[in-house]
Amino acid sequence: MTGCALQHLDFDSAIFGRDVLRVVRPDSRRVQAELQEKSGALMVDAKLSSACFDQIAAFERLGFRRVATLITLEASPLSEPPEDIPDRSLQLSDNDLKHHAEGFVFQRFRQDSMIDSELAKEFMRLWITNSLAGRRETLARGSNFCTYCVTDQTLVIDLLSVIEPGRGIAGQLLQAIRSEGAARSATRVRVTTEAENSRALHSYVNAGFVPVMSETALHLVRDDAG
Ligand SMILES: CC(C)(COP(=O)(O)OP(=O)(O)OC[C@H]1O[C@@H](n2cnc3c(N)ncnc32)[C@H](O)[C@@H]1OP(=O)(O)O)[C@@H](O)C(=O)NCCC(=O)NCCS
Repeated sequence: MTGCALQHLDFDSAIFGRDVLRVVRPDSRRVQAELQEKSGALMVDAKLSSACFDQIAAFERLGFRRVATLITLEASPLSEPPEDIPDRSLQLSDNDLKHHAEGFVFQRFRQDSMIDSELAKEFMRLWITNSLAGRRETLARGSNFCTYCVTDQTLVIDLLSVIEPGRGIAGQLLQAIRSEGAARSATRVRVTTEAENSRALHSYVNAGFVPVMSETALHLVRDDAG
């Protein structure tokens, strides 16, 4: 297989009303060649190691813009069970779902000034809906939740969202997630969030997570055949 550098994202394309592609092979020449074959409005999403300055510069020369820095943090699983057992499913009212979706103000589509913020909120609304509908597993406290999956002995957090801020609920959910990691024989618990999201970083560090990796998120938005 020659291996394409760009992968079409059906879910994202349906929401944004244009072809949304992800860079799956960070080869700028290959990306440029594949982009030349495409016409019409499109959006391309790349995540590159923040230490690869030359690679980032090569993408910027193609018209990609830096929109966010993504920090991956890890914690070890906790052998003690959580003090209060969280719920394993959650049905949100339309209003709470909207509230959660709007809370993700640092999500990279929301940080990109070239993307309609209402579409970026709709993207989060559908992502949360899918995540809670069984695409991921759930731990919930009231109307607040953390969704996750366990693969290759790693518990990966998909979304953490709290709509009753400042009551320590994020900290409680993260302790419960670390216990879940131990119960599922994971060797680590991992999450990726935006470096701009100081509140989330504070919650993760408070709950015992340490940063292990940083990536630069870049977008290329093209409005017409050009
Ligand atoms: C990030 C989030 C989960 C935190 O939830 P929370 O329940 O309010 O968090 P907690 O109450 O456990 O902790 C908040 C801590 O952050 C601190 N804090 C508040 N605003 C802060 C800021 N702007 N920067 C840094 N720390 C901040 C608080 O003082 C508190 O610290 P303390 O526990 O030492 O007193 C919540 O704000 C949220 O859902 N945000 C939107 C979704 C999101 O960004 N999720 C994370 C990415 S997946």
